Amino acid sequence: MVQRIAVLTSGGDAPGMNAAIRAVVRTGVYYGWEVYGVRQGYEGLINGSFQPLGHRDVGGILNRGGTILGSARCPEFKTPEGQRKAIHNLNRAGVDALVVIGGNGSQTGSLALKQQGFPVVGIASTIDNDLAGSDITIGVDTALNIALEAIDRLKITASSHQRAFLVEVMGRGCGYLALMAAIAGGAEGVVIPEVPFDPEELAAKIADAYRRGKAHAIVVVAEGAEYNGKRLEAYFEQHKERLGFDLRLSVLGHIQRGGAPGAYDRILASRLGAAATAQIEKGETGVLVGWVKGALHTTPLELVAEQKKQLDLGLIELAKILD
Ligand code: ADP
Ligand code: F6P
Repeated sequence: MVQRIAVLTSGGDAPGMNAAIRAVVRTGVYYGWEVYGVRQGYEGLINGSFQPLGHRDVGGILNRGGTILGSARCPEFKTPEGQRKAIHNLNRAGVDALVVIGGNGSQTGSLALKQQGFPVVGIASTIDNDLAGSDITIGVDTALNIALEAIDRLKITASSHQRAFLVEVMGRGCGYLALMAAIAGGAEGVVIPEVPFDPEELAAKIADAYRRGKAHAIVVVAEGAEYNGKRLEAYFEQHKERLGFDLRLSVLGHIQRGGAPGAYDRILASRLGAAATAQIEKGETGVLVGWVKGALHTTPLELVAEQKKQLDLGLIELAKILD
């Protein structure tokens, strides 16, 4: 019978992680269990850095970005020795099951624990939205809204000066954030790793937009694209005389991760947190809890780790039609 569970946040922090921690703790308390928070992701498992969390300890965090538990990239956990230490510490602390809130790498870590016989449930959380097993992950909506605010502001100054701007957004190797920011922000162009790209085609498109009377041009570029922001800015700088315009770069970077979670992320995180805890109560661990086709969904961690999430090609087509 379960008496004590632990929860950690791992990888890049995402707005809504705190709401997920709160939901895990309060649902655990509701089931009559003790809940431990693990500091700094897998690092805390290896160091045995656990703290008991009660109902009141997670008060006032629902609306806060980041993660009260801290997060980390922990190379040692990728080794069998690191995983052995982690399981040793979990057993020593009397933890019956673990909840891992994080993205791709973190859930590969969850799988490693599962394969070594430790009960674990993952919660889909990363701003990149590159995790199989969830159509949308915790943090994406807030990060997108932050990118949109920047795009809207850049548009205003671009229009005043008839200029073209490049906005680089995060996403690691995945173009989801860039594509959605381009559609929602009404960008004139989008550059993502999933689609072949020629800077001359982009130049022709911007020149055509100017000819059609547009007062500005905004191009959203994914950090993981072959032509990332720096390379594209350099290309346009080099060909400025011939093209008649340049493309100045703004890199949003970590600004996108640090926002206070919006309503969507708070609700998604609360639902996934409660559902992950319910999986432990049912004794059905070894899965990722995500959101698929508008409902809660569980996927075995093996499938999550081996599948690559694909971008919706229809959205790529839509971005082309609308820009
Ligand atoms: P995210 O979870 O946001 O994708 P990372 O890819 O940085 O972030 O992964 C977070 C952590 O998960 C890593 O620092 C490491 O501790 C753990 N991890 C990543 N890949 C593996 C793996 N193949 N096996 C075990 N643990 C892993
Ligand atoms: O995975 C989230 C993310 O913000 C990616 O979009 C980005 O490539 C990466 O983390 C940045 O990592 P770090 O915060 O370690 O620089």
